[in-house]
Amino acid sequence: EGVEVSSAHTYDFVIAANRLPVDRVVTTDGSVEWQRSPGGLVTAMESVMRGRDAAWVGWSGQADEAPEPFKDDNLLLVPVELSADEVTSYYEGQSNDSLWPIYHDVIVPATFRRSWAAAYEKVNRRFAQRVADVAAEGATVWIHDYQLQLVPRMLRVLRPDVRIGWFNHIPFPPVELFAQLPVRHSLLMGLLGADFLGFQRPADAENFLRACRRLLMAKTKGDVVEVPDSDRRVRAAAVPISIDAADLAALAESEPVKARAAEIREQLGNPRTILLGVDRLDYTKGIRHRLKAFDELLRDGRLDPTDTMLVQVASPSRERVDAYRELRHQVERTVGNINGAYSPIGSTAVTYMHRSFPREEMAALYRAADVMLVTPLRDGMNLVAKEYVTCHDGPGALVLSEFTGAAGELKQAFRCNPHDIEALKNTILTAIDTPADERSRRMRALRKQVAKNDVQAWATKYLDALRLAPEKPTA
Ligand code: ADP
Ligand code: G6P
Repeated sequence: EGVEVSSAHTYDFVIAANRLPVDRVVTTDGSVEWQRSPGGLVTAMESVMRGRDAAWVGWSGQADEAPEPFKDDNLLLVPVELSADEVTSYYEGQSNDSLWPIYHDVIVPATFRRSWAAAYEKVNRRFAQRVADVAAEGATVWIHDYQLQLVPRMLRVLRPDVRIGWFNHIPFPPVELFAQLPVRHSLLMGLLGADFLGFQRPADAENFLRACRRLLMAKTKGDVVEVPDSDRRVRAAAVPISIDAADLAALAESEPVKARAAEIREQLGNPRTILLGVDRLDYTKGIRHRLKAFDELLRDGRLDPTDTMLVQVASPSRERVDAYRELRHQVERTVGNINGAYSPIGSTAVTYMHRSFPREEMAALYRAADVMLVTPLRDGMNLVAKEYVTCHDGPGALVLSEFTGAAGELKQAFRCNPHDIEALKNTILTAIDTPADERSRRMRALRKQVAKNDVQAWATKYLDALRLAPEKPTA
């Protein structure tokens, strides 16, 4: 017997995201395990929600599976079921083959299918209904990301009493790209069901406001949209997300993690320079550009494979979507080629790992790396960049693409345009060759920036904005 959520238990604070913070995994011996879900959204929101008296509505990560709601500490996890067909159409199709490419500058072409759009609407309605069931009278509801853009409006119809916020973890595209979407009108109207819409960068909020003006003929005043055919006003503004910096710094400074970082360097043969990449295996992350730059630096003899190596950790992602399957093949072929050409006996030029690791191991890897390569072609924020500067307290270096949200905040990084391979190569060499005291100075400044603007500060700022919208908070 699960908890009866629709009648007895309701919550004053409810969040909805496509994924629950944990994934249901059936192991080979048939037993059920819950593992932490992938991605930056869960990294951030898990810290914000930990211990709160609240409900989290989301998918368990498995088709045809809707376990009863269950408690994780004070947090009620409310699974939403997706059929195998909906995993294909709503999640892999509309969310990750239509919306994701359009929202990330069409790095790969987007595919539009009417059946996917229909499934997206159906699943969004299911999420809205689940939220309506668990939300108390006058509750605060916080909806997350591009998979659930119709939920704000659907929920407002079901529950006009609740306060509704939405936060976009990914970029919001320029109207010229957004306008390609056959569902553009319903997405904008869906979002305008909220009281406050949060974005990573000011440019994302501006793109949204422009889309409302151009495609809905809506009036905007500053960052407030007048919703067509209603007297409602909706505010749209940037509130850049972050990490639980104090918690991660404490982990990184713990003795076991320090020892493990030293051990990793040892196991890699104590090279002079360790370069590190950590990403979901996604075409937005610029992994191929990074490998190309490293390959050419070795080819030109500007880096020596006997004292420099690249560690690339790539967590499996969306493997049934063609563009992801292709990317994996390309990356693995390129890694093989580089190692074939340059690895000395007894070591490898590129150490490639296609799997997930515990937090402790990630923190140790960050500490062990001399140069962190964050080279996305487009990324809403990129929490990996913030994690690296938080974990590494020595003379590290962050090479950071200007196409990440993080670049708007992390000013002491070594900035790059990953499309410009020559410039990327030079930036990597500059990062390696900058004197240690200068690197330490930059890292300290970066670390301080993240510590001050951590995920707790972000959540407070977001929830204040939601409470007061469409008015602005004064501070
Ligand atoms: P995205 O949300 O697009 O995946 P982010 O950089 O914002 O990108 O967040 C990624 C999160 O996933 C970070 O918290 C990072 O530590 C974590 N992560 C990435 N790869 C791995 C991995 N192989 N093992 C464990 N955690 C990982
Ligand atoms: C990004 C998105 C999240 C998503 C995560 C992992 O962080 O913003 O919404 O959950 O990637 O992707 P997945 O498709 O595995 O949920």
